[in-house]
Amino acid sequence: YDDYMFQYPLPIPATAQPDFTETVNGTEVQFYSLTIEPYTQQVYPNLGPAHFVGYNGTAPGPTFWIKKGTETIVRVLNKGEDTASLHLHGSYTHSVWDGWAGDEMNVGQWKDYYYPNTESARPMWYHDHAEGHTASDAYYGQAGFYVIWDPEEDSLALPTGQYDVPLALSDKTYQSNGDLVSPEGNPINFFGDTIHVNEQPWPYMATDPRKYRLRFVDMSTSRPFDLYFEDPDGNWIDFQVIGSDSGLFSGPVESNDVVISMGERYEVVIDFSPYAGKNITLKNNMQQVQINEYSNTDKVMRFMVGDSVSDDTANGDVPATLNDNIDWPAERSEVDHTFNFQMGGDDTWTINGVSFNDVNNRVLARPPQGTVELWELHHTGGPAVHPVHVHLVNLQVVSRTGGSRGLLPYETAGLKDVVLLEPGETVRVLAEYGPWNGMYMFHCHNLIHEDHAMLDVFNVTKLSE
Ligand code: C2O
Ligand code: CU
Repeated sequence: YDDYMFQYPLPIPATAQPDFTETVNGTEVQFYSLTIEPYTQQVYPNLGPAHFVGYNGTAPGPTFWIKKGTETIVRVLNKGEDTASLHLHGSYTHSVWDGWAGDEMNVGQWKDYYYPNTESARPMWYHDHAEGHTASDAYYGQAGFYVIWDPEEDSLALPTGQYDVPLALSDKTYQSNGDLVSPEGNPINFFGDTIHVNEQPWPYMATDPRKYRLRFVDMSTSRPFDLYFEDPDGNWIDFQVIGSDSGLFSGPVESNDVVISMGERYEVVIDFSPYAGKNITLKNNMQQVQINEYSNTDKVMRFMVGDSVSDDTANGDVPATLNDNIDWPAERSEVDHTFNFQMGGDDTWTINGVSFNDVNNRVLARPPQGTVELWELHHTGGPAVHPVHVHLVNLQVVSRTGGSRGLLPYETAGLKDVVLLEPGETVRVLAEYGPWNGMYMFHCHNLIHEDHAMLDVFNVTKLSE
């Protein structure tokens, strides 16, 4: 695709529209539907089309922009090619609607998923979570944005509307006929040679010379990124990181790069005003040493900055205080559980030697509802990274030891639900286990590892009266 690099515009996924809305006991409930369906798309202009399977026949699927506290019911109809289970990543979902791997719709079946949307405003994403084939399902298109917004944030006057842009990162490889190469078949990692943003290889976006809010999600199978913006002279541009998985930070964190691994979200505000008439390239400073890295995976997309600003609203300084309502868990220094992320036998990956296939042993923690636990996550070796995702809860990353870097300033500035575990590292995470009781999954978000059963269970146990 190299000849077409930065030649095609960034697609912006359509906004999901409710089929109907009802008010139940004073609460607005919106009803949506998503149909999983195969479709083809001409990606390479000079080759055959590529086959995808996406929500409503698009990838990324439609973007949900949901006001905090509005309840949603999403009917998912599976007209795809395999079983499916929908997970809303980052949400407080009751366990029956959380996308349990194994709670799968067969082709032709549907299921209604209910979301209370009572969590703090945050950028979430929805994706398939079917047992053993999440990697290919997400890769072929079953993934989209789901953003909760809170009118209380209006007073912050952050860039909004066309200046608030969701950016889904992924990597894929194409066959010579223009169709996709499957990520299946390698039990360690899948790295594509073609970087996509919102499912367009290396797109460009025409921007105004003003501030933008960019919401990054890494939807890749195995590829983490270290993102930076490069000006035409090769300099890295400073920007502000304003939020992550669980919403806005208490205040902006200045940086000139951001490391983002699979499942993570970071929101940044970047000011293009000094670059009128110039091209700014979003690049990736993290190259994979485990493979013979491809020649263009250091490039992500291009911003072509125009000469004039068409709309100057919400273009002021980012306020020093963004959020004083972060729900930090109570302090605790005693480790409740130590989890080793390691390779198992028979092409499996395990947590403490247990894989999701060990049905009788896979419940590895039983935190009583509402209690705070400190978990120690340990990478036992090998070059593959493990972004560890805990469903239901918000994680406070408290320490990172044993590796080549310590904590990053933006990974401790807010609460998260994925934390990157690199070779040799030990990372401690604190969380309050709630608000609901029930069985939930925690797992590696390298989707190849997840499909090879590096996924176990915690049971938030109900308090006795
Ligand atoms: Cu993004 Cu258990 O998933
Ligand atoms: Cu892993």
